[in-house]
Amino acid sequence: MSPTDPYRFETRVIHAGQVAEDWQGATLPPVFQTAAHRHATAENLSQTFAGQTTDHIYMRLTNPTNRALEGKLAALESGQGAVVTGSGMAAITNTCLALLRSGDEFVSGNSLFMSTYVLFTNVFAKYGITARLVESTDLAAMERAINDQTRFVYLETIGNPKMDVPDLAAAADLAHRYDLPLVVDNTLATPYLCRPLELGADVVIHSTTKYLSGHGAASGGAIIDGGHFDWSRSRFPDFAPFIDRKGRLALLDKVWREHHINFGTTAAPWHSFLTVLGLDTLALRLERHVSNAREVARFLAAEPRVRWVNYPGLEDHPSHEVARRMFNGRGFGGLLTFGLEDQAAAFRFIDRLKLVLHLANLGDCKTLVIHPYSTQYVSFDEATRAQLSITPDLVRLSVGIEAVEDICADLAQAFESV
Ligand SMILES: Cc1ncc(COP(=O)(O)O)c(C=O)c1O
Repeated sequence: MSPTDPYRFETRVIHAGQVAEDWQGATLPPVFQTAAHRHATAENLSQTFAGQTTDHIYMRLTNPTNRALEGKLAALESGQGAVVTGSGMAAITNTCLALLRSGDEFVSGNSLFMSTYVLFTNVFAKYGITARLVESTDLAAMERAINDQTRFVYLETIGNPKMDVPDLAAAADLAHRYDLPLVVDNTLATPYLCRPLELGADVVIHSTTKYLSGHGAASGGAIIDGGHFDWSRSRFPDFAPFIDRKGRLALLDKVWREHHINFGTTAAPWHSFLTVLGLDTLALRLERHVSNAREVARFLAAEPRVRWVNYPGLEDHPSHEVARRMFNGRGFGGLLTFGLEDQAAAFRFIDRLKLVLHLANLGDCKTLVIHPYSTQYVSFDEATRAQLSITPDLVRLSVGIEAVEDICADLAQAFESV
């Protein structure tokens, strides 16, 4: 099944990317739990090393279960190819480093997942790479930050946890005017809500650990290449050998050949299997995540002890109109934040929850809560926390797919302690 097949997303998410030749009729990819693959002849292994066959050699390089997931994700994001990794952070690191050299710069929205922020501002700086961070929804600031050293523009579809939604189509236009690719972390929206490659973005990244799996049982990441960016532009002289080999898929080849296999960012086939298993129910889950989150946001907005609610689905949210356009009217995701009186009130509230699970994750089918200020951002200085809108009163809720009445009842009984 190819992305051009006439099936709707709900059908494609189940059937797309199936590669069934050596699966003995299995309807899910078998877990190929083997570190290396035997080859019948010396000639065949030599040809495979030379890239003349698509056979497998060694798990760190490729694996049939991982390849099945790659095919499926590429199809769901309307991409031309994918590489899966052991975590979302591995996918982000590999993509950025394949695009960057020491001395280079890139422009990124400042509304970023915590580890991405640390990677961009602290870790890359040690290697002479400058991330120019601007307001994610401020295209004029983005344009001002672009210069001759810039190699790409980076955005999250929905900023975690700032909940702002940039206009990806406009950002892609802007990036392309400067011959730059747009890289988008689509973890929070998923291809159910938004397919950035169809809006003009060039590369999509996922933490598959979240909604794509949905069960909270697997770790993984993915890099999906739209295959439409022309890497022969002057900004990318180091891409020449990869263009010779793979043409418009030069970036994916560079990611895989230079970084994925040498950094050892391999996805475990068992985790890829669990991710494929989770993907079968993505559309159904997202439909419920979205409707539950909308109900919960309304419930919170009406609760006197809640000072503010940050959910793009609320009509007065600054990103509401952009999100409506970007997400084809399918809803606004399953994540939201809200404010209580202060940190003490947030702690009292979290400690009283019975159904909602207190842990550091999102996108699980179970409703999850965390206090980011005192956890993921505990070692950040006050100025950076303020810039990222991480305040002591902020509670983040990843709304699950339970009965929404039960979620709201649990929140209501916990508010009594606030
Ligand atoms: C938006 C976003 N991107 C990337 C990541 C990193 O993913 P992983 O934990 O799979 O490395 C996360 C994790 O929470 C995330 O929320």
